[in-house]
Amino acid sequence: MSSFDFGRTRCLSIFMSAATTGTAISGAGIWHPENVITNEELCAAFNGWVQTENARNAAAIAGGAQEPLRESTPDFIVKASGIQRRYVHDKVGLLDPTRLMPLVPDRADDEMSVQCEYAVRAARVALAAAGRVAEEIDLVILGASNLQRLYPAIAIEVQHHLGARGWAFDMAVGCSSATFAIQLASESIRAGSATCALVVVPEMTTGHMNWHDRDSHFIFGDVGAAVVVEPLDRVKRAGAFEILSTRGMSKYSSNIRNNGGFLNRCDPERGAAADGDRLFYQQGRKVFKDVVPLAAKFMTDHVEAHGLAPSKIDRYWLHQANKNMNDLIAKRLLGHEPTGLEAPLVLDEFGNTASAGSIVAFTRHHDDLPSGAHGVICSFGAGYSLGSILVRRT
Ligand code: COA
Repeated sequence: MSSFDFGRTRCLSIFMSAATTGTAISGAGIWHPENVITNEELCAAFNGWVQTENARNAAAIAGGAQEPLRESTPDFIVKASGIQRRYVHDKVGLLDPTRLMPLVPDRADDEMSVQCEYAVRAARVALAAAGRVAEEIDLVILGASNLQRLYPAIAIEVQHHLGARGWAFDMAVGCSSATFAIQLASESIRAGSATCALVVVPEMTTGHMNWHDRDSHFIFGDVGAAVVVEPLDRVKRAGAFEILSTRGMSKYSSNIRNNGGFLNRCDPERGAAADGDRLFYQQGRKVFKDVVPLAAKFMTDHVEAHGLAPSKIDRYWLHQANKNMNDLIAKRLLGHEPTGLEAPLVLDEFGNTASAGSIVAFTRHHDDLPSGAHGVICSFGAGYSLGSILVRRT
């Protein structure tokens, strides 16, 4: 769905500063399901469920023993988050008020798994953008906020279906899974354990949402993203992004959490039931307050360590959770209200796509940047975890 500007004359890094990893993002790509759910459709389904529940509990509500459930509104969603719609794996189950959950049939062990499919589809776009074929890949890192299983690693399934070589593994660090994976890919190349790496980010988020939670039912959408990372001096196509440096940070917080896991069924009190805390949940207001200063300082420190002023960075591809949050962070970095070019948003169309968000923004909004332009790909979210990739267009 996106490719680099192949017509651009490649400027070799003869003026490359000393501070560089010597690696580059040579191609990026995304894939998303075709189904779209608007805020209006989502609220109609959610409110249908609220009305049914309130009718069922009418006596308790009338007697004051129970609070009525409150409806959700499209106006609140747009005002609080900037999200207008999202791509979803399945809208039939999601929009059924008696279900409010995607229909995702189990697949047999010899069929491609869902997250593998998201990864493979995005990977093919990224490989084409880089001018690479899968046989040239010798490291596949799959980063995602949720993994549909633990073994065999989904990355190994991706490696198999693409026909890549070398080794592959999964990693999960919430919303920084993609940026941390890019950092690892770059470091693996520098360490000599890979020559051409593929990072895949299959964020099939609608499976771990609580669609009955008014505070968060509108947040997420599904997407697959991928980038190719390789040594700068081996890049085949013009217009790649040299990775000057990477930086990661984490600071424990339970304000964004999902307790779903293999020990759930062992709890003697609760059995196998999937309660709300075994899906995504958050203290959104607290996250907002904590993460805005944290992310702004994190990127400022990273950029300034390179002798660059944050206000001189040409583009910030920020994590895509909330428009108001991104505007505030970008304003702190730039010193003025960001334009759509300085800190592009994709969450209006995609919703929050967890760790894929900043990669989707990067994939959609890099073609126009000239050689020498600087940019920062940054994630911030569950953990808390923050990842920053400082790049320069070749
Ligand atoms: N429809 C209508 N009204 C709603 C609503 C909905 N779906 N959900 C909440 N409201 C109401 C609340 O009840 C509250 O009203 P009240 O005070 O009368 O009860 C009001 O809107 C404000 O709610 P609040 O939760 O404070 O909204 P908010 O402005 O903080 O926005 C988030 C909520 C989640 C969009 C926002 O906090 C956010 O995005 N935070 C960052 C989260 C983040 O980055 N997460 C990372 C995940 S990867």
